[in-house]
Amino acid sequence: MKLYLTLGLLVGALLFSSCSNQEKKQGQRTDEVVMLSPFILTDSLRNALILQGNKVVNQAQVSLQRALKKAIKSGGMEHAIQFCNSRAIVLTDSVSNAQKVQVRRLAKKYRNPLNETDSAESKIFKDYILAWLKGKTLAPKIIPNEKGQPVYYKPIGIQPICLNCHGKPGKDIPGGVADVIAGLYPEDKAVDFKKYELRGMWAVTFPDYVLADTE
Ligand code: HEC
Repeated sequence: MKLYLTLGLLVGALLFSSCSNQEKKQGQRTDEVVMLSPFILTDSLRNALILQGNKVVNQAQVSLQRALKKAIKSGGMEHAIQFCNSRAIVLTDSVSNAQKVQVRRLAKKYRNPLNETDSAESKIFKDYILAWLKGKTLAPKIIPNEKGQPVYYKPIGIQPICLNCHGKPGKDIPGGVADVIAGLYPEDKAVDFKKYELRGMWAVTFPDYVLADTE
């Protein structure tokens, strides 16, 4: 009985945290940030960068999902993989250029080695995993990189549709699709995920800011 209760709470917490990932700040104004150098990461700068990061990530996510759905519809999963292979980074790069930031999708268990988290990013991701395991709300964060530039991070959860290409090969991922993935990504680590697990993180770097070293 106690076990069921604990499981119930855990599942509830997971559902809640994955929904909160999708949380949109629409209707809120994105304050233009005035440039001064160097910057102190005050609460108001942090909030402005979080709003800007949310906006950029929503835009990148919408364009990726739209393109993915279109590719699945026009040529099935195998075609969609070719699409992700050739277009995913191009798409996030075009959002980066338009918004004058750098948008990346990072993963510890990566498919494309270009998206692998470095050691500092792996630590940030690990903190998200620990918070997720405790059922905490996973809010976006601003953390300076080694150059002092602020970086916005937001976790990416696995939705049911993602299992087609990131779930269990042969079970969630049909055999033919698994073969195409293995051919394109011989070092693929991005499989065996379960629904609502954390797949990786969005990272948005703001290159126009250098934060003062206050620590
Ligand atoms: C049609 C197959 C397919 C589906 C469906 C799919 N992905 Fe992927 N995913 C890929 C491929 C292929 C790559 C590698 C892209 C590249 O080479 O840049 C990838 C890369 C990623 C990355 C970048 C990190 C890495 O491992 O390289 C993330 C994050 C990601 N996928 C999350 C998701 C999420 C979340 C979903 C569901 C909303 C999803 N994917 C659905 C095929 C898929």
